[in-house]
Amino acid sequence: MTNRIKVDRPEPTCMVISIDRPDKKNALTHAMYTAITEALGDAAEEPAVRAAVITGTNGCFTAGNDLGNFLEKPPVDHDSPVFRFLQTIATFPKPLIAAVDGVAVGVGTTLLFHCDLVYTTANAVFQLPFVSLGLTPEAAVSFLLPRLVGYQRAAEILLTADPFDADTASTMGLINQIVPADQLMKTALKKARKIASLPPVSIQQTKRLMKQRLHPVVMETLLNEAEVFVRRLKSPEAQEAFSAFLEKRAPDFSKF
Ligand code: COA
Repeated sequence: MTNRIKVDRPEPTCMVISIDRPDKKNALTHAMYTAITEALGDAAEEPAVRAAVITGTNGCFTAGNDLGNFLEKPPVDHDSPVFRFLQTIATFPKPLIAAVDGVAVGVGTTLLFHCDLVYTTANAVFQLPFVSLGLTPEAAVSFLLPRLVGYQRAAEILLTADPFDADTASTMGLINQIVPADQLMKTALKKARKIASLPPVSIQQTKRLMKQRLHPVVMETLLNEAEVFVRRLKSPEAQEAFSAFLEKRAPDFSKF
């Protein structure tokens, strides 16, 4: 399954991590989270790598966590692949650039809060559908989203689970720029190359300085959310939502 995550080095200073499971809209399995976590670990450790890019394939970023995995083999604690991935991306020391086309659902949106630069196409669609799945937020977005957009806008996004488009994400300040699809990777790589040409220690210390005040509360929130999330996964509401998705029917929450 790790071959669903492609790791390329278009040039020595830059690592590109591509989510490549187009038949399932790039939904992320345990093995895929582990592969991304390992790639980020390699990028962090290897001195030659000065920036990393994360992207999707086939006009799709990711439809989020594989819902079959959530039903059959749900994460049980902080050490589960999804939470190890979230902790890794939240602490990644080098610049991380996202190139987003198409759907960015669930973790596809939450991971962007931990990227340094985010480029999208006009076709990008973001969604935090946790409540519609009987779940709760992850990746510290219960803290980071209200901080970014204000409480009421965050509440609208998280309590309705409605998707939002690239223009909205741009107004929110979640993304840097909307570019044509054929310019997406070019733009991300151009920025990666620019950053890679600058003094690496200065770059990493600048990132650390920007993040260090928030870091304790981000990590505390992320771990606290993970505990709640793990409990919610086993809830009858979530079980109904996952089963309904896999059975291609509307969920019935009337009995809860
Ligand atoms: N987990 C597992 N499989 C998924 C998936 C997911 N998160 N998202 C999509 N897929 C699968 C579908 O089951 C379908 O598989 P099939 O062809 O074997 O039936 C295939 O990917 C294509 O998805 P489909 O729903 O037909 O594509 P679409 O373009 O109509 O809709 C989405 C795309 C992303 C809007 C829709 O698939 C969706 O809502 N997915 C679930 C998103 C989600 O809730 N993620 C979890 C967040 S925590």
